[in-house]
Amino acid sequence: MEILHVSAECYPVAKAGGLADVVGALPKYQNELGHYSKVVMPMHKTAFLHQHTWDLIHKGYFDLDGETTRYTIIKEKTNVLGFELYCVDVFGLLDREKIYGYADDNIRFLVFQRAVTDWLMHWESLPDVVHVHDYHAGLIPFFMKHGFDYQRLNKIKTVLTVHNAQYQGWMNWSNTKYFPVWDNWKAGLLEWNNQINPLASAVKCVDRVTTVSESYMKALFHQANGLEHLFAYESKKCLGIINGIDFKVWNPQTDDKIIFNYSEKNIAIGKQNNKENLCAQFGFDPSLPLIIFIGRLVGEKAADLLPESIRQALTKYPAQFNFLVLGNGESHIESELSHLQLNGYGYFNTQIAFNETLSHQMYAGADFLLMPSRVEPCGLNQLYALRYGTMPIVRRTGGLKDTVTDIGDKDGFGICFEQASVKDIVDSIGRAIHLYQNTSAMLSFRKKMMHINHSWENSAEKYIKIYQTIS
Ligand code: GLC
Repeated sequence: MEILHVSAECYPVAKAGGLADVVGALPKYQNELGHYSKVVMPMHKTAFLHQHTWDLIHKGYFDLDGETTRYTIIKEKTNVLGFELYCVDVFGLLDREKIYGYADDNIRFLVFQRAVTDWLMHWESLPDVVHVHDYHAGLIPFFMKHGFDYQRLNKIKTVLTVHNAQYQGWMNWSNTKYFPVWDNWKAGLLEWNNQINPLASAVKCVDRVTTVSESYMKALFHQANGLEHLFAYESKKCLGIINGIDFKVWNPQTDDKIIFNYSEKNIAIGKQNNKENLCAQFGFDPSLPLIIFIGRLVGEKAADLLPESIRQALTKYPAQFNFLVLGNGESHIESELSHLQLNGYGYFNTQIAFNETLSHQMYAGADFLLMPSRVEPCGLNQLYALRYGTMPIVRRTGGLKDTVTDIGDKDGFGICFEQASVKDIVDSIGRAIHLYQNTSAMLSFRKKMMHINHSWENSAEKYIKIYQTIS
């Protein structure tokens, strides 16, 4: 089958979160299964763009509110990612350094979607499936099915994957001036709560909706930032498929970002060496358990609870553990964490940054990874941690619930808690400190974790089955 993935992010070209990791891996695994899967994304001005060579594939234009807007499609020459990668450039709008965070993001993603739809019209033979990811690509199914000028595309099957339903791309109706010609009668397919809602529109227009874990799928019927009734109404076409991870990128045996490579066979020494290196960088005593948090510092990830939880845990268990945070996000959380560090605790350190290399070193060198998320559609960090023999401490929600079993339960290998609260986090840190004293139990849990197979093969196959059922 021929599949075109449409996404705002793709690792290693441009990454803000887990969406990039999924779009950077799933197509590669689909190709390995014998399919023809490719990716189109905006041409963000990242290092990847300059480090690779590109072919100019197509030049096109469309009418945007009475003005001719020109776009170009370029393709990475060597398929270095294991699939064909196409980038869309619209001068002044898409050629920017950051992926998100501009005042005109709505227009930027609209123009991206217009260009992708227009480009598809020029394909000699059309793909079997257009697979859109999150709201940034959510209007494409509407354009393809209901745009007057795009009737050639209306038989192509479409799939939406919801990586995060919190963000929906809401915009007011005046933005329809940037749309292709369409019949006003179809306005209902764009609308939710009197606004244009690109995520809702995709849910209404696509043939199948997937999300990234079964538990998150169930959760969306009750809690979807306003769209719960829509998901419930469309439940027959909705399905949860747990994400995989790219075993080629996330492999402690071959990972060139970490200091010492290791496998299950030499895990004790491998982790110890990585830990010593990490502790030396951050002024920690390597004989204490090292707990880490990696991720966006936002309420969804319950990062706002970190400063108080760490403060209380340091008081309750003084000099018994180290804690390292890597991430950036809301400024009040960033400054509270920096404050905590300045207060001279000595057992806490933070890097307010997005740093892919350091994140690998942390998975390799840490003992525990904390994920207290309020909302977690899948979560990839706990899967990376497992692969590196680092025990996840997670709140039982979404994908975390589906992938981590508590050590107190049958076949368990992680620490789980119920509430996104300071109390539950502090108690779980206590459990981790206690467990760490038992070296042989820790070692056997580590081996067990590294054994778990969350590679993409299984899930990539499930997506193919979905495409086949709608074709
Ligand atoms: C989003 C979700 C995360 C998920 C990722 C990839 O970032 O918040 O839970 O793992 O998308 O699907």
